[in-house]
Amino acid sequence: MKLSIEKAQSFVPAGTLAAVAAQTAACNELLESGKGAGNDFLGWVHLPSSITEEFLNDVQATANLLREKCEVVVVAGIGGSYLGPRAVNEALASAFDAYQTCRKNPIVVYAGNNIGEDYLADLFDILKEKEFGIINISKSGTTTETALTFRILKTMLEEKVGKAEAQKRIVAVTDAKRGALCTLATKEGYRKYVIPDNVGGRFSVLTPVGLIAIAVAGNDIKALVRGAQDMEKATGVDVPYAENPAAQYAAMRNALYQFGKKTEILVNYQPKLHYMSEWWKQLYGESEGKDHKGIYPASVDFTTDLHSMGQWIQEGERTIFETVISIKNPNRTVVVPSDEENLDGLNFLAGKRVDQVNKMAELGTQIAHVDGGVPNMKIEIDKLDEYNLGQLIYFFERACGISGYILGVNPFNQPGVEAYKKNMFALLEKPGYEEATKAIKARLAE
Ligand code: PA5
Repeated sequence: MKLSIEKAQSFVPAGTLAAVAAQTAACNELLESGKGAGNDFLGWVHLPSSITEEFLNDVQATANLLREKCEVVVVAGIGGSYLGPRAVNEALASAFDAYQTCRKNPIVVYAGNNIGEDYLADLFDILKEKEFGIINISKSGTTTETALTFRILKTMLEEKVGKAEAQKRIVAVTDAKRGALCTLATKEGYRKYVIPDNVGGRFSVLTPVGLIAIAVAGNDIKALVRGAQDMEKATGVDVPYAENPAAQYAAMRNALYQFGKKTEILVNYQPKLHYMSEWWKQLYGESEGKDHKGIYPASVDFTTDLHSMGQWIQEGERTIFETVISIKNPNRTVVVPSDEENLDGLNFLAGKRVDQVNKMAELGTQIAHVDGGVPNMKIEIDKLDEYNLGQLIYFFERACGISGYILGVNPFNQPGVEAYKKNMFALLEKPGYEEATKAIKARLAE
């Protein structure tokens, strides 16, 4: 993985960047020493290097069981219990995975991440016809979206295959000792995996939260973890700023923020990275957006969105910067054919790979956007595979921890996500919310 920050440097005074860069070592050290805010949620820092071969073999065995029994595996979870596995699986799957006829791998679908009734009904139409299983992921076990979905899916599976068989096809990923899902898993005898107490949802992709679903999809979890382990070494406290990509990225984005660049747009040129951006948005949005501070994390899929958001990015308010994830080598080859009539005028591209066109779009866009006043950072990875994704994931996590400390917030809590839940429960008249129900009803009647 290679980080380039040169195209952002001219947008901040050298002194500012140097001053922020000087903070990174101390902030990285706080992650190591556990003396910073949110220090009870630092289990992710040395998570990659603590994962054993034996543990990965056990996860793989569980995944294999689901792979043998199921044509479809539903991953039920939301937020940090959802985005990590989806980001990795979508990046590695065929773009048209659901249409493949000779399948080696079960289809992995996602639910419990919304409360759309039609979404669930559409899912049930598919599941009715298929052998299916469920990975239910919830640390608390009480998250409404996920718990509601799981209740319905469990009932459906038990009716379809019987309680004993359903029990073999359900895997629970949850808290070690507490919570509704933990209790249910023990009672029903589901295979149970633990989300460590000291790892928050958005940092949990390398725990069973991500690993089981990633293995079920046929992806190599050992290579994923190896990539993360190498990045753990490359971003550690002993690595100086000039060689530490996490420190450099954290410093540059904070320096830009101090100079009015309030929105960071994560850009990809491979649509398979769409969910990697969704995962990244949660990681940075939930970690930094507090105390009325924080860069707003946005994302686009180029070149698609150049034909929609491209105008705003080129000429809108100059409060943005871009971070591009660039894939050096595509995994597949498609060559542009020659055409005798050349009515579309594209014969100048004949014989070239489609990726050569994509790369020139990328370079042309970078030049145009920098000319238009948009600072640009670039993260280049060799190719889309498990090893490189493991590196990318840990890089973003480490940089996020450093960046949050530079900003001066606790990067590991998320108090703001409770506000809507309180109102929703009051409106639904959940037991225990009687006073809140009265108050919110009175407000609505005003
Ligand atoms: O990052 C977080 O803490 C959240 O996104 C949670 O992961 C999400 O709300 C799901 O919570 P739970 O795993 O308890 O169902």
